[in-house]
Amino acid sequence: MFQPVRSSTSPADLDHLESSEAARAWLAMLRTSQTGFGARAEVEVLLDGLSKAIDRVLAEHAGMSAELIGVYEQLGVVFDVTGKLPSVNTEPEVVRLFAESLRRSFAGAEVSVVRAKRAPTLVADGADDEWLSERIARARELATVIVERRPSSDTGGSETETMIGPVFAGGDFVSAIVLARSAKAPSYRASDMLLVEALTTFCGDLVRNHRLVHELRELSLAMVRALVNAVDQKDEYTSGHSIRVSFYAALLGKKHGLSAADLQMLQWSALLHDVGKIGIRDDVLKKTSRLTEEEFRHIKEHPVRSHKVVEQVPQLAGALDGTLYHHEHYDGCGYPSGLKGEQIPLQARIIQIADVFDALTSTRSYRPANDWRGALAIMAAEAGKTVDPHLRKVFDELIRAQLEGKEEGWAQLTQRANHFAQDSEEFDEPQVKPVTVGVRAGSDSRNGAGQGP
Ligand SMILES: [Fe+2]
Ligand SMILES: [Fe+2]
Repeated sequence: MFQPVRSSTSPADLDHLESSEAARAWLAMLRTSQTGFGARAEVEVLLDGLSKAIDRVLAEHAGMSAELIGVYEQLGVVFDVTGKLPSVNTEPEVVRLFAESLRRSFAGAEVSVVRAKRAPTLVADGADDEWLSERIARARELATVIVERRPSSDTGGSETETMIGPVFAGGDFVSAIVLARSAKAPSYRASDMLLVEALTTFCGDLVRNHRLVHELRELSLAMVRALVNAVDQKDEYTSGHSIRVSFYAALLGKKHGLSAADLQMLQWSALLHDVGKIGIRDDVLKKTSRLTEEEFRHIKEHPVRSHKVVEQVPQLAGALDGTLYHHEHYDGCGYPSGLKGEQIPLQARIIQIADVFDALTSTRSYRPANDWRGALAIMAAEAGKTVDPHLRKVFDELIRAQLEGKEEGWAQLTQRANHFAQDSEEFDEPQVKPVTVGVRAGSDSRNGAGQGP
């Protein structure tokens, strides 16, 4: 019946254990015992009780330690993920980022992302993997993390322990993060499941935020498109002009090596460069005969008017140069400021080339459209006068590379130009490459279809 106190417990440990209610009570009994050390049986009972109390306290401490380690791991992963969030832009990238963090946390585990399918009858793209599909369906139905042991007969390899964390954005099932590791490894702890639960919830919230931002972006782009179309349609001959200018400017900006952020602002600026025409009298805009001096002065107000419209939107501060200076000439004979050469901001020089090219290749009330070769020839003659000679050359090469020897080339290019910026994902260039992690094949239910690495 006598159980010795654990040999590893030192007097210092005993002092420490006084924090336990039970141990303190037993120690008090020992200290106040009137029986003396002669009553061996009674002392043995006291020591036995004390030993059990100490065991309970140690067990409590061990539980707390595991819990603390679990919380510390969760914080580490959350910290890791939040540090990298600014570098991800698309929904699949967000999910991959979490999967990658979990892969680092669970050494030896194979981590994969199974994306939701569009078809309502299939839950996920792991549908060819019947065992996994069934478990994902269950995790989705229960809306919680589940762990299942997968027999070796099913994998064709060794037995694995598989944890499945469903990711929901609002009420929508987005994907499942699957962790599979050898069944010989220590079993997943409750804190492991809590970690995956916390991260998949966090991931789902971010995906939902991403969707809301995407919808807002789509909405603002659609509104701007509607606005510039309305302005372009003031004159039937300029219908679609701003969208096409944005497309050609984007081609040239990319070729010139602009950063993603500069490219984005260039596209907005090109799209809005003529928005100030909304304030130009229709009789002047639509006039087919020669403009009077007053009328010409009036039409030349449009870059300043465009600038005034765009400066009302603080987020488009980077798009102001193109709106104000797209009619400056390289030789200093343009308007509104008469800037010369590289005094003219790069954004404006790029838009000017796109603007001139689209104007030359479009029908006007006073002349038919030039074909693309004719337009490039006219622009070559204008190098150093109207347009930047270096950028003109780059644009010339770029257009020739797209069209030379291709019978349907011009029709295809203008088709792309006319439908440019209908999707904000196309308009807003992704700024980073996706994180690579073991990802199963799949297409996303909303966007980014086929964006796997
Ligand atoms: Fe203009
Ligand atoms: Fe224009």
